Amino acid sequence: MCGIVGYIGKKQAAPVILDGLARLEYRGYDSAGMAVFDGEKVNVTKAVGRLKVLEELTHGGETMPGLAGIGHTRWATHGAPNDVNSHPHFNKGKTITVVHNGIIENYISLRNKLTKKGYSFVSETDTEVAAQMLDYYYNGNPLETILKVLHRIEGSYALGIMFADHPGEIFAARKGSPLIVGQSSDGCFIASDVPAILRYTRKVYFVDEQEIVRLEADHMHFYTMDEEEIEKEATTIDWDANAAEKAGYEHFMLKEMYEQPKTVTDTLTPRLKKDRIEIEELGLGDEEIRQIRKIHIVACGSAYHAGVTGKYVLEGLARIPVEVDLASEFRYRNPILEEGAMVIAVSQSGETADTLAAMREAKLKGFQVLGIVNVVGSSIAREADHVMYTWAGPEIAVATTKAYSAQLIAFYLLAVKFAFVRETIDDTMYRLLLRDLRRLPDQIELLLNSKEKIQHFANRYIGARDVFFIGRGIDYAISLEGSLKLKEISYIHSEAYAAGELKHGTISLIEEGTLVAAVSTQPALYQKTISNMVEVRARGAFLLAVTNVGNREIEKVSDYTIYIPETNPFFTNSLAIIPLQLFGYYVAVGKGCDVDKPRNLAKSVTVE
Ligand code: AGP
Repeated sequence: MCGIVGYIGKKQAAPVILDGLARLEYRGYDSAGMAVFDGEKVNVTKAVGRLKVLEELTHGGETMPGLAGIGHTRWATHGAPNDVNSHPHFNKGKTITVVHNGIIENYISLRNKLTKKGYSFVSETDTEVAAQMLDYYYNGNPLETILKVLHRIEGSYALGIMFADHPGEIFAARKGSPLIVGQSSDGCFIASDVPAILRYTRKVYFVDEQEIVRLEADHMHFYTMDEEEIEKEATTIDWDANAAEKAGYEHFMLKEMYEQPKTVTDTLTPRLKKDRIEIEELGLGDEEIRQIRKIHIVACGSAYHAGVTGKYVLEGLARIPVEVDLASEFRYRNPILEEGAMVIAVSQSGETADTLAAMREAKLKGFQVLGIVNVVGSSIAREADHVMYTWAGPEIAVATTKAYSAQLIAFYLLAVKFAFVRETIDDTMYRLLLRDLRRLPDQIELLLNSKEKIQHFANRYIGARDVFFIGRGIDYAISLEGSLKLKEISYIHSEAYAAGELKHGTISLIEEGTLVAAVSTQPALYQKTISNMVEVRARGAFLLAVTNVGNREIEKVSDYTIYIPETNPFFTNSLAIIPLQLFGYYVAVGKGCDVDKPRNLAKSVTVE
């Protein structure tokens, strides 16, 4: 998504902004720009393409001297990626400049009103409308002007704003799109996300919904939409600065795959006491847990896939009925939520627009929402009634791995805890499940360390055109994620199918040499999956099997078999996904794809 960086202080603003935008590149963008006040006027430079085009244009910021500025990397939503549509946008005379992340949904009607008042527009963007509205309402008082405009905007925004006749301050405002501000001894900062300013300060403030911030070189003031000044608590970011760097790996994605043992440990340990699970942070007592009559899981992408596994585990262990919805569907189908239902919103970024909207829809209907979220202080984390953090640390690669693995752990913890409280498992089963949970980090490590085998196999499929992933039950959920990992970073078409469903149409696509990855980790379903493997093999498929150690019978029908260590069938997803992540990664690397920043994708989809 779009990235925003602003600065005002003692240092030259342009280099700080360029550096901050570079650390937001992972969010996905197609153009960049910045505006800097040079003491007399605001200079604006913007360029389509990668950030280095802007860096070269401005000689690393040298052509834009000044101590206050705002910058932006744009992921196009309104208007093609080009120099004119890129941000910052401004009014005539550039006395007001704006950078924006989000969507102004009523921009067309606002634009028509301004056109009737004699305004003209050079871009196709909604953001330029905001700049012109600020111009229209400007009365010499920036804060009053901003408030007038924000009261008339519908939709979402994270804004950075500068007024040339107020050179000692810059402004920020947020509604629906993430925004933070920070302070150091050298000045104050605006950013879409923490990595942008982490090298300058660890003291940040998460701007809340409909808050406005006035930043001066050595101070910040926070306001509500009623122009009431408020105090806010700072958050100290304790991430290791390297956490946002590659730490010697070729790609963030590989680094994050190898962080999975730690991620799983960090998500488990605080909640695994000696002989029981404690998830006090949920604020759910045993009686409330017993009263849960249904669970609705809402999420997108890989978080949705984790939710599909969550369904099998929660139903299998705690015997609670579970529905899993794509958040983009849930939010518009006027969902029926039963008395006693619990909604779980799953999101790594905590900013995914569809998931945020789905959560708000559930809350509007009066239901409690539990957020399973990775980014501390993100919108979903702040708006959910209960939060279960996944403690995966910053995930930079667009293709999620460690955060997804942590989401699985969150669901296991909920399922086992709920099962024990609701007495659908006994003490013995509880102890065995806890034992198997504790073993997962080492078992994941084991699979990661045998990457050569899958790397060698992956090299054979760099030229593949279609790849199918099949499985039953939890193996189907694993197939969904394995397929997404491959296609989103290698651009090879792939589909995941419930193995029993193939014969209802899709099997017609199987040709000689088509790769089918069969996931078979559920002993009760081994034979069923083998029969599906025989079906596709008879039509020429090449079979990669991922199965439990000891299930040697599968080798009769599998051309290439990967074994995962023994664990409880409810937890196999955490292990079987590792070779599938590695497979997708090495195919993409073999194809020379931009693994960390795949085309068309963004790390956090904060617009519809
Ligand atoms: C997964 O690799 C993708 N990056 C994407 O599907 C992602 O899982 C989805 O957009 C949801 O993001 P969230 O977890 O931040 O809400």
